[in-house]
Formats: sequence, C-alpha cells, structure tokens
Amino acid sequence: MCGIVGYIGKKQAAPILLEGLTKLEYRGYDSAGVAVLGENGKVQMAKAQGKLEVLKNKIDGGKALKGTCGIGHTRWATHGVPNETNAHPHCNDGMTIVAVHNGIIENYAELKAKLIRRGYTFYSETDTEVATKLVDYYYNKYNDPMLAISNFALRVRGSYALAVLFSDYPAQIYAIRKDSPMVIGVTDNECFIASDVPALLKYTKSVYYIENYQIAHLKEGCAAFYNIDREKIELPLTEITWDAKAAEKDGYEHYMLKEIHEQPAVVRNTVNYLLHDGYIDFSELKLSDNVLEEISGITIAGCGSAYHAGVVMQYVIEDLARIPVRVELASEYRYRNPVTSGKELVILISQSGETADTIAALREAKDRGLKTLAIVNVLGSTIAREADFVLYTKAGPEISVATTKAYSAQLVAGYLIAIKLAEVRKTVTAQYAEKLKTELGLLPEKIQKILCDQIAIQQFGAETMNKKDVFFIGRGIDYAVSIEGSLKLKEISYIHSEAYAAGELKHGTISLIEDGTLVFGVLTQDKLIEKTVSNLVETSSRKAQLAAIASEGVKLPEDCKNVFTIPCTDVHFTASLAVIPLQLYAYYLCVAKGNNVDKPRNLAKSVTVE
Ligand code: F6R
Repeated sequence: MCGIVGYIGKKQAAPILLEGLTKLEYRGYDSAGVAVLGENGKVQMAKAQGKLEVLKNKIDGGKALKGTCGIGHTRWATHGVPNETNAHPHCNDGMTIVAVHNGIIENYAELKAKLIRRGYTFYSETDTEVATKLVDYYYNKYNDPMLAISNFALRVRGSYALAVLFSDYPAQIYAIRKDSPMVIGVTDNECFIASDVPALLKYTKSVYYIENYQIAHLKEGCAAFYNIDREKIELPLTEITWDAKAAEKDGYEHYMLKEIHEQPAVVRNTVNYLLHDGYIDFSELKLSDNVLEEISGITIAGCGSAYHAGVVMQYVIEDLARIPVRVELASEYRYRNPVTSGKELVILISQSGETADTIAALREAKDRGLKTLAIVNVLGSTIAREADFVLYTKAGPEISVATTKAYSAQLVAGYLIAIKLAEVRKTVTAQYAEKLKTELGLLPEKIQKILCDQIAIQQFGAETMNKKDVFFIGRGIDYAVSIEGSLKLKEISYIHSEAYAAGELKHGTISLIEDGTLVFGVLTQDKLIEKTVSNLVETSSRKAQLAAIASEGVKLPEDCKNVFTIPCTDVHFTASLAVIPLQLYAYYLCVAKGNNVDKPRNLAKSVTVE
C-alpha cells in the first residue's frame, strides 16, 4: 500500500520519480506527489488528487520541477480522505524538511498531541504529517539528520518506509524502514529508493534491502547504511534477475491480460527451477528430506489468492503425501492460539513477500519454534528473508492488482512440494510419481491451448456484464478453484459473487438463487462431477442460468448452454487449468464494463498494513 520513490544523481529527478511512481501505481492510486531539492537547497513540491496522470500533467511530465534529488509518493489512503492536502510529500512549516511515507504510525494521535503542546500546527489529517513534524522536532533539537531520524524511530509505533529530504543537506536523502518494504538501487553515480523492485528495473538491477530500523544515507552514487545507534553497517548488494521488459505491458491492453498470457512460461519456469531430469531438487531451498520426513503436519497461511492457492495445496498434499494439512487465513492465524506438536511445517504463501498479516503469521510460527517455508515471488522480500526455507515462484514482476500468474506459480510450487513429500514419505509408487512429474511438464502447453481458444469466454463475459450475482460451485479441488474464480470476478468487476462448496448450497445459500442468477459449476474431479451436476440442476430448477468449466468429455445438463472445456490432466492439477477461463471471464467482463482492470477501486497490490 502506497508507493515511495527517491532519486539522487546527475539527471533531473522529477521525470525519473514520475516514471518510478508509474511502476508503483498498483500500490495505491488515489493521489500522488513529488518533492525535488533544487541546487539552492529550496524544496519544490507538487501534489494532485486522483491518478498519477493528473500530477504528470500538472508538472509537465516533471519538467516544471528542477533539481537532481527528490522523493515521490503514490497514495492508498489510510488516515484522511484522498485529497491534495492529505497527499504526500508532507513538510514542516518552513518546507525545509519533506517526507514521504508508506505504512501506518499507530501512535500518531499521541505524538500529534505532544507536538501541538510544543506549538506545532497541522494542515492535514495524515499520520505522515505527524511523522514529518516529529523528525522536524528532533532535527531542531539535535541539528543532525541522522539523530532526528533515529529518535523518530524510537518514538513511533507502527510500520513505515520513510524517505526524508533536508534542505540543509542538498543532494542527500535519508531513509529508514520498519515493517514496510524499501529497496535501495545503485549505479556508479546514482541512488534510487523504491517500495518495490519494478520501479528501479529500468535503471539498475543492483539493490540493497534494508532491514528494520536500518537507516540509509544516500548521496550521488554513494549509499551508506547505519543501525539505529548510527553505527555504520555493511549490507550485501543483491543482483535482481528480473528483466526490465517484464514490468512493461509489452503491447497488451492491460497488465492483467499480459500476465494471464505469461502463465505457460511462468508455470514452466517454476517447474524447471526445481524439477531436474525427473528429480525434484530442493537443495536450493536448503530443505532436506530429513525435515520432510520428520514433520508431523503442515499449516499453510496466506491472504486472498495466496490463501486460495493454499486451499488447493491442502487437497493435493493430503491426498498425495497423507500428511495432515490445515490451511489458515494469515490474518486469523496470527491472533489464534493454535495447538501445535512443535513438529509442523508452516508454509507461508505470498507473491509480494510483504503482506503484513502473512509476515505476522510467519513470526508467530517462528516464535512457536516451528519450521517455516515461504513460497514467495519477490526476491529479498521480508518473508523470503525471515523464513527458514524459501521456494521462489518464477512469475517475474506482477503489476496488475488482481493476481493471476503468481497464483498459477504458487499452485505448481505446491504440487512440487506435494510430490516431493509423497516420494520422501513413500506414499505414492515410483511409477505414479513419474507420471505426475511428466504431467507437470505438460501443464504449460495445456494452459496455452486454453489461452488460444478464448473467444467464447470473452463473449460470455460481455453478455453477462450486467449480472447482479454470480455463484461458483464445485467440490474438492473444484471448490478450491471456485473461490479464486469468485474473488477474481468481484475484485475487478464489482459484481457480487460467492463461491460455495456445491454440497453446502442446500444448507442456506440456495435461497439466494433467483431467476437469471448465474451459477458456474467447476467440474474436473472425476469422482465428484455427478454430484456437482446434481447441485447445478437444483439451481436451474430455481431458474438460475448455468455455465460450466469442465474437463473434456464431461457430460453436462442440457440447460447448461455455456460450457468452457479444459484439457484433461491428472486430477490433482486441474486447478491450474480451470482457473484460466475463470481469470479470462473476470477480465473480459471487467473490460466490457469499462472498469479499470489493473487498478480496481479501493484495492492496492501489496497490503503492507493490517
Ligand atoms: C487478489 C490478490 C490478493 C493477494 C493478497 C495476498 O487478486 O491479489 O488477494 O493475493 O493480497 O498478497 P501476497 O500474495 O502479496 O501476500
């Protein structure tokens, strides 16, 4: 939530900041702003409510602000409505200290009251103005930016990635973080700050990840790091492998469509990363067979679609490896008091690796002495750094707020874990394990086949764009993929949608079915198809309109006129195919409605606050 950027170098800062913010707009898009330090040490600032485009027009693509050092922000409102006053950057009264912030200052009210007692006044409703004025307070007291920042950190509670300009220190940026992401990029003569790697990729792939309470002091081509006691520390330089082009739309109308189409490659890359010549190799994860043999159970935690991937994994791992699996919403797990034997493996799933609730679940598991395995997409993210073992999904940068390719990569990561566990624990025959691995290798071309034949689902999306309610039903893995299909639809189309385990309909939900309600059945699980078909028929008897995602050869009721078939695969892997038409349906319906596909209302990609 919220994106921050910073630049210092030889080029004009404002256009670079705007470009970085464009790449981070998925993190928040209700207002934006930039501040640039001129050579005379004077701060120039511009802010605008609404999309970044409004700000870009206001400052002529950045040309209106002159200077080679600056910071910028794209906002997802927490404290205060989205308007120009509440937009970042925020400043002290003399505009000599200016800051951008991502996160939440939990004790901002208390700090604000303290500052008011010291004579401060406030122009906005934001916690960030409080943060900025707290830095100002300590700067006035100690006359030292580093002391101002470290004292700020000691006084605030909550999360922050904060970048600050001091007009007394032209051509320098100070930054600090706690529990909000921040990455520092460097070239020979430039330094960059960003909330996420895609904002930097065009300029550099050499980055530093700073940890909680570490301070970055950036000058032209020189990044120095300090701990909270202001002692100099060395951080390792990491090389990013993502290609800058991977964060571009590459001719597609929307990132979401591009990312849907990248799925064959993403699945192939994730499989190839760990499956070598028929052997699933977890040595890069440092996850030994011993650990897999000794665990007594698995808990999977994640949020949103990552949680949904976990629900699929639960079915697959339990069935193949015969080990108990519990899947939990990370936001619930962190506050529960789960009973553990001390020998469970906790799997955390997260595309960004920065989701606040998933980080908290990870820390909760570690505090209980449990082993943790992260399935993460973003290299060097907090979850990747803190988990005992890391399995990187090879999805590349995902920009669209609605996840598609990261979910697909998470699924195959789960299949690989399930097969590996089954092999180590000897719960499947060697022949069946071979068959599963061969089938994994065939998934990319089967996904491609669905993508090549999408006209019917495109038309159906447009035809049904005025539906008020859409239900998705299925059993087993078909239920698990239904919850993802339903989330995709509601988050970008704003149509009310629910997913139900087909057997549950009769226990209450069927009362919502009325003339014309659209009910999608997902039908890929051989043993359960007839049962779900019966449940579909029960809804059509109540005048529902039926649609189905079904494996080739499945027999459907006559009044189910809209059937989208997917190729056959092993029953454990069908979610990887069934989700594709569900994603396409949500996408095309959203396009037909004219909604903002990549930036749906009220949402942000990386949920770094609770
Ligand atoms: C839905 C979506 C969200 C994320 C969730 C977790 O399309 O993108 O539900 O899946 O916010 O995010 P990560 O995976 O970054 O932890």
